[in-house]
Amino acid sequence: MRSVFWENNQLRMIDQRILPVRFEVVSFTKHAQVAEAIKNMTVRGAPAIGAAAAFGLALAGYESASSSSPQLVADLQVASLTLKSARPTAVNLAWAVDRVMGAVTTASQERSVDELRQFVLAEAQKIADEDVEVNKRMAEHGATLINDGDTIIHHCNTGALATVDWGTALGVIRTAHEQGKKIHVLVDETRPRLQGARLTAWELEQYGISYEIISDNMSGHFLKSGKVQKCFVGSDRTTANGDVANKIGTYMLALAAFDNGVPFYPVVPTSTIDLSLASGDLIPIEERNPNEVLDIQFQGEPVTPKNAKARNPAFDVTPNRLVTGIVTENGIAYPPFEVSLKKIMGR
Ligand code: MRU
Repeated sequence: MRSVFWENNQLRMIDQRILPVRFEVVSFTKHAQVAEAIKNMTVRGAPAIGAAAAFGLALAGYESASSSSPQLVADLQVASLTLKSARPTAVNLAWAVDRVMGAVTTASQERSVDELRQFVLAEAQKIADEDVEVNKRMAEHGATLINDGDTIIHHCNTGALATVDWGTALGVIRTAHEQGKKIHVLVDETRPRLQGARLTAWELEQYGISYEIISDNMSGHFLKSGKVQKCFVGSDRTTANGDVANKIGTYMLALAAFDNGVPFYPVVPTSTIDLSLASGDLIPIEERNPNEVLDIQFQGEPVTPKNAKARNPAFDVTPNRLVTGIVTENGIAYPPFEVSLKKIMGR
């Protein structure tokens, strides 16, 4: 099942907040609900929130009472701002919304208002379908980097749940597994939202891939032991110079991998590459509610003092010097990334 899909005139999404305890699919009929679901992480992962927002625009089309195409486009513009502002770091969100809006604006000249509503939905469906196809192509390229017997460290969740289907970094691991390579995955639990421990572990169980969960502060130890061959991670935005924004903790993992000579590969669809930004310093980093850090129990009791304060940046930026190669659907880019990413985007 896809994590984000359209059925019976509704957007349906797997609720990622409650996995692995319960598997539930939730339905949406209003674009504002979709924006809220992106904010509260019912749906999460860069490509998944892009597809969700595109379907959110389709809902906005059906919500609009407008009887003329220009008025519908104006209503969609308002909805697109609500959807784009839901989360700032993953560029796929703005990319998907802008792609639909660009297509709709052109199409509006020769279509009736009802045809235009259908057009928005068709464009959103195209984005979702392409995401699956792109992930599978990316996985074929990435799997060439994996050898039989490899142990891999993986951060956050980059699987079928984080995309429409198949996944980015986890998609690479999944394809290598399907090719018959024996792989073991050390799953970073990924504090504070635990996407690794909850979602990646759940997915790996479905695929029958061997794994163990480690707390994030253990990765340096395992990398130093000489028993880890590669790190694979996703990205929420990769800039023109190959700086990689991804889930908080990725930078520390990359530093430890570099120090121990372990190759570090972000797996990044071209929809996540933002050539308009020269470097990672320019990426807006989402700061989430500190309660996500503080809401933790040990032996049934809260861990932190009652009035404790916390910080909660949701992403960090790994500088390009720590990155071995960037896997995309068009091939693998190697340094200097300023040159190779531009070439790969043009393919
Ligand atoms: O805050 P999240 O869970 O949406 O963050 C997700 C990640 O950081 C993933 O690694 C990223 O989206 C790329 S994988 C599809």
